[in-house]
Amino acid sequence: MASHNRIPMIAGNWKMHLVSKEAADLAAAIKKGLDPALKHEVLLAPTFTNLHAVHAALAGSRVILSSQDVAWEEKGAFTGAVSPSQVKDAGCTHAIIGHSERRKIFLETDAVVNLKVKAAIKNGIVPVLCIGETLEERESGRTFKVLETQLNGAFAGITAAEASKAVIAYEPVWAIGTGKTATPAQAQEAHLFVRGQMEKIYGKAWAEAVRVLYGGSVKAENVDELMAQPDIDGALVGGESLKADKFLRVIHYQAAPVK
Ligand code: PGA
Repeated sequence: MASHNRIPMIAGNWKMHLVSKEAADLAAAIKKGLDPALKHEVLLAPTFTNLHAVHAALAGSRVILSSQDVAWEEKGAFTGAVSPSQVKDAGCTHAIIGHSERRKIFLETDAVVNLKVKAAIKNGIVPVLCIGETLEERESGRTFKVLETQLNGAFAGITAAEASKAVIAYEPVWAIGTGKTATPAQAQEAHLFVRGQMEKIYGKAWAEAVRVLYGGSVKAENVDELMAQPDIDGALVGGESLKADKFLRVIHYQAAPVK
């Protein structure tokens, strides 16, 4: 068992689901169901338009509010984009950046992800950086190369101190929304690689401290065995985070809370 003391994080990514009342009700139910003794971090990432309502619903709780994306520019003629100061104004302290759906559907490159990570950090927003390989990349033996390229790209030109609060989410694309979870061993292998790669970029102490979350069909039924892996420090949860009872079970997973 490692000697580190990483605080686990369980994050819910609500994607393009729910209208504001539904989102506020779900946030309130999650807030209500949290064990007050719980030490780890819980994060909710609603759609931009629901941020204000969820922020209000979470008042008085320690649940973290996050956007699902953020623009890299501060203001100006960028129709459809939402700036770091705007997400902060809506109550966010964190921003998910580089989710595979942004990369695949909205054609975001590592260079764009890097600009967004820089903009978030500059504005005091914690980036939750998503990386992960596609099925084709895994089957052709390129998983580690892809992860290395994504990590090097995302953190290019950013110092260890600037990136000190960043959270990384390893999400194999083939496991997202498919019901196919990576096995705990597959996930652990990738997480160990991610930590090793971060050690090359920022050194051992940084790499030992960073939280690496697993994402991809995390459910009440599989969270315990995933969280029991030494390098899995949390979960980024899509579908299962839309059901209060199920997500509360994920949040209150049964593995040892501090590894
Ligand atoms: P999923 O999504 O849990 O529905 O697979 C995870 C994610 O995309 O963050």
